[in-house]
Amino acid sequence: MRIFVTGGAGYIGSHVVKALGEKGHDVVVFDNLSSGNEWALLSGRLIKGDLCDKALLGSAIREFRPEAVVHFAALIQVEESVREPLRYFRNNTANTLNLLEVMKENSVGRFIFSSTAAVYGIPEKVPVDEEAALNPINPYGASKVAVEMMLRALAPDPAFKYVSLRYFNVAGADGSARIGQAYKESTHLITRALKTAKGEFDRLSVFGTDYQTPDGTCIRDYIHVDDLADAHLFALNYLSEGGKSDVFNCGYGHGYSVREIVETVKKVTGIDFKVVETDRRAGDPPVLIADSLKIRRKLGWSPRYDNVEYIVRTAWEWERKRRRK
Ligand code: UFG
Repeated sequence: MRIFVTGGAGYIGSHVVKALGEKGHDVVVFDNLSSGNEWALLSGRLIKGDLCDKALLGSAIREFRPEAVVHFAALIQVEESVREPLRYFRNNTANTLNLLEVMKENSVGRFIFSSTAAVYGIPEKVPVDEEAALNPINPYGASKVAVEMMLRALAPDPAFKYVSLRYFNVAGADGSARIGQAYKESTHLITRALKTAKGEFDRLSVFGTDYQTPDGTCIRDYIHVDDLADAHLFALNYLSEGGKSDVFNCGYGHGYSVREIVETVKKVTGIDFKVVETDRRAGDPPVLIADSLKIRRKLGWSPRYDNVEYIVRTAWEWERKRRRK
């Protein structure tokens, strides 16, 4: 299949491009390289461009004539989105509107969207399923909900089918350490803990130890990036076979606390680094776990790497050899 991948040079996008290449798909990546890297493309061709440049986007789509679009390009930092909300709506919402318009103008009818567990905000019930209310508590989540609303409005269009994948906590790296999380400002727990083990930071902060959880720290559903990449391939197959537009959680259905992750990082690296307990970070839900039955049943997806030590080990191997931007 000819597949157009926006943001394909980024962390998750590059793992999906790798998986698409392994299956023999013809891939064009459209990426402004603001946080992605050309070296992260293990297959496909790069067009360096920004989704706000509708003319360039239009000519890229007209020339390549994709059968599907997989859309990653977005800003993803929750705290930054609170400081600069309009930038998030411009990049994540308005640019997706450009993309959808260009797709419609060129009769491209299949769309896979990178959504997020942040659309749920603080869910009333966990594991959270896809029917739960969309109640984002930050502009990042809201910018993704706005796209999901546009997609819902397009659902009756017989010429347009989409799958929205709501990612939980994505972590880990390619098993051969060729690609991985390379964004230098990354504040994610596993990346920060590994960088602390490596000596880039002198301590790791645990944000909040008074949550209503067994050890007082937040619990998250960590999914290996290659399992998440597989979910995109299943979603593409589903749409190719005539599947209806739908939304799926991407997680394993169980979680680990911050303390458990810290212990795993210490065990895998063999390094005992300094950990300090600090106040809660604003906007952190205490427990965020996916109900992942729908994607398993309806798309036939199942995880290959549901093993937290594997997740941390692949991230560590990548972190040790990783290239700088
Ligand atoms: N944490 C720490 N110390 C750190 C970093 C994180 O204690 O140095 C804690 C956080 O407070 C949180 C947990 O580790 O409890 C996980 O934090 P991450 O920053 O790794 O991930 P989040 O759960 O905050 O964010 C992820 C995605 C977002 C998405 C969100 C959905 O990265 O894109 O899930 O809630 F929006």
